[in-house]
Amino acid sequence: MKKKATIKDLAKMSGVSITAVSQILNGKGQRFSSKTRQNVILAKNKLNYIPNYNARSLVKKDLKTIGIIVPDIGNSFFSTLIKGIQEISKEENFLPLIFNSSHQSKFENYYLNKLVERNINGIIIASPLITAKAIHDILEKNNIPYLVLDQNSFVHGDRIYVDDFQGGKLVAKHLIELGHRDFIVVMPKKSPNNVDSRLQGFKNELNKLRDSFKLNVIYSSLTKDGGYLASKKILNSKKLIQSTAIFAIDDEIALGLYRGFIENNIKIPEDFSIVGYDDIEIDNYIFPKLTSVKQPTKEIGIQAAKLLIKRINNPKKNEQFIKLSVKLIIRNSTKSLAHY
Ligand code: RIB
Repeated sequence: MKKKATIKDLAKMSGVSITAVSQILNGKGQRFSSKTRQNVILAKNKLNYIPNYNARSLVKKDLKTIGIIVPDIGNSFFSTLIKGIQEISKEENFLPLIFNSSHQSKFENYYLNKLVERNINGIIIASPLITAKAIHDILEKNNIPYLVLDQNSFVHGDRIYVDDFQGGKLVAKHLIELGHRDFIVVMPKKSPNNVDSRLQGFKNELNKLRDSFKLNVIYSSLTKDGGYLASKKILNSKKLIQSTAIFAIDDEIALGLYRGFIENNIKIPEDFSIVGYDDIEIDNYIFPKLTSVKQPTKEIGIQAAKLLIKRINNPKKNEQFIKLSVKLIIRNSTKSLAHY
């Protein structure tokens, strides 16, 4: 493999000193003739020279980076969240470094350690498996500013809280109003706290019906595949197939349910009303369009980046906390039982 060009190579090729190259590339080369400046730029392009920002930051302390660890970058909830973080990072001159942990703690801890080793300025953690101990031992002991959100339920420090309990309530309220009384919730067995709060909110609303409802919880991962497998469990069970409404705890699960039902000629919403959670973009492009709880996903990213950058700039600041709300977007995957 070809060796990466260094500033030394560049200086040699353009016939000037390293200091001169550095000043010209940093826009501070006014004292040099335009011919010299041009030569440096030509050499830079010829050698495909990319500045070594790590070395540069050690000298100038001007490069600011934030790390972001998410459990599933393929899920558009997390990619939208990242867009929000990126937007603010760009405005504030921070470079975001994004890592996907694939829901595996070994990756979460690996990236956390590597980021700290590289003198990261701050970290946003959405992954659930980084424990309070790791946050304490790796981040707090090294004075690295951090912010936790979504699936990570660490309770100290700065955080963004989204009202998932209310989200679950909104789903139950909507389905009850449509006349449903026999429900299924599809969610992970070991759910992170935010996801579990949706179930708690859902139950809280159902309990107002006293005993006149049925609720079954089916366990699946927060993926399309999880939803697909759940559809098979439902269709193979005499009890579950009697249900009329399903709360998919995220939209990925709902998408998997759609596929499983469509493959078996089960109609949505005629046979099952389905409500998802997150309101990802594709909800509007599937048939029928998915009713879903809208999380302010990009806003979560925006606020997360703002809080973290404030913390980096002022480590002594009081603990920061932001609560964001959710709303139900009613589309075509739910229907009143009275219609049948
Ligand atoms: O789709 C991923 C889900 O897990 C989202 O609902 C998000 O809130 C996360 O916890």
